[in-house]
Amino acid sequence: MEPADGEGNGSITRILSDDHRRLERLLASAVADDGHVERDSYDRFRAGLLRHIGIEEKILLPAAQRLRGGEPLPIAAKLRLDHGAIAALLMPTPTSGVLATLRAILENHNLLEEGLDGLYHTCDTVLREEMDQLLVQLRAAPNVTVIPCSDTPAVLGAVRRAVERAGFRLSGDSPTDDQPPLLNTL
Ligand SMILES: [Fe+2]
Ligand SMILES: [Fe+2]
Repeated sequence: MEPADGEGNGSITRILSDDHRRLERLLASAVADDGHVERDSYDRFRAGLLRHIGIEEKILLPAAQRLRGGEPLPIAAKLRLDHGAIAALLMPTPTSGVLATLRAILENHNLLEEGLDGLYHTCDTVLREEMDQLLVQLRAAPNVTVIPCSDTPAVLGAVRRAVERAGFRLSGDSPTDDQPPLLNTL
């Protein structure tokens, strides 16, 4: 998606939309046509996506809320629920069901962030006065170290609950599962 008019290389829209595309390419390169997942590439994808979410949760959303006199962005609650589901889906082994759910949520979520009324354009507008400092913070955001995937009942239960809280369903939950991962998009 192209950034909105007037938003160049130094905009939040450009930097974080480009990061979405980079992460999409990383995920695509980690999964072979036969479904085999190359773990080193997938771990780089997990680490990159968690850093990206950290930037949004710890830098962008709080800054926007502060500059709105303490009022969160209307979209913030939905984005945080999505982030919880996405982060949870990065914990278990990347089965076809986990990957299908992750891709469906990311597709929907990235549109919410990149659209004209989305998070990034709103931040470029609301945070204009602080943009230079903000871009320094964005670039300095720490890298994330990921732990090995886990499929314990506790992890899988937490994944299912986080996905459902965000308004989606976990693909592959049922052996006869033929429904798409979206329950609704809120
Ligand atoms: Fe996000
Ligand atoms: Fe994002």
